Amino acid sequence: MVIDGKQIARDLKSSVAERVKESSERIGRAPQLVVILVGEDPASEVYVRNKAKACEEVGILNRTVRLDASTPEEELLSLLRSLNADPKVDGILVQLPLPQHIDEAKVIATIDREKDVDGFHPLNVAGLWQKTPHMAPCTPKGIMKLLAAAGVDPKGKRAVVIGRSRIVGLPVAKMLLDANATVTLCHTRTVDLASVTREAEILVVAAGSARMVTGDMVSEGVTVIDVGMNRDPLTNKLCGDVDFDTVAPKASAITPVPGGVGPMTIACLMENTLECFLLHADR
Ligand code: GUN
Repeated sequence: MVIDGKQIARDLKSSVAERVKESSERIGRAPQLVVILVGEDPASEVYVRNKAKACEEVGILNRTVRLDASTPEEELLSLLRSLNADPKVDGILVQLPLPQHIDEAKVIATIDREKDVDGFHPLNVAGLWQKTPHMAPCTPKGIMKLLAAAGVDPKGKRAVVIGRSRIVGLPVAKMLLDANATVTLCHTRTVDLASVTREAEILVVAAGSARMVTGDMVSEGVTVIDVGMNRDPLTNKLCGDVDFDTVAPKASAITPVPGGVGPMTIACLMENTLECFLLHADR
């Protein structure tokens, strides 16, 4: 079974749209997300456009602020402080990566944690690890929803996560653990990676390496979530971290690239923005 991330994301956006409509009528204004893009990274341009489009679909007001690549760090921090103070701004997202001269950690920590729709603020990260209220990061949250939609309950299963990034690998491992899976966290430097991945009943791949997981590395019946987004150097087409053609025949369920995790990340961003809105407006 191919897990239709596009459809599952559409369904989530429809339910968010309904809740946005109902809450906007009750509260007397619509939620607003501000997306900040510093510089002209082509991949970031695409992400930012897709985020704006999703906002329109669900009825969230969207403002994209474009700043020159040479913008001083202090100017960005000062913009964030004014957005933090603006009661009509519910969510703030700074598109990563940032230019070299800007300290990413400082920028993330400056965003009001209650407007941090990415779930990257240190207090939101701590909340995930300490099981206290927090905004959850969009991609890991989307992965858990894809598993649920595919009818895969992590409880009691062996889950293997390849990749230990702050944005995907680490938080999704924690979420799988909290869903009662037994989790192995590994990476591209893991010795004999195949012997680890063959044990997986759920395999999440966020290694950032084109088609690194091949059919011989997985067991029959595995559920595979491919977080990869690479450009094939030969065909110039998008491809995942999983070699779909050899892995799919063995998998009981697998996400495609594109059309799997990507659309869910954006749908979860819409849900997080709604949650931030409700957090402010209902107080
Ligand atoms: N760059 C790549 N992925 C992301 C994301 O999820 N959030 C932000 N802010 N930047 C990104």
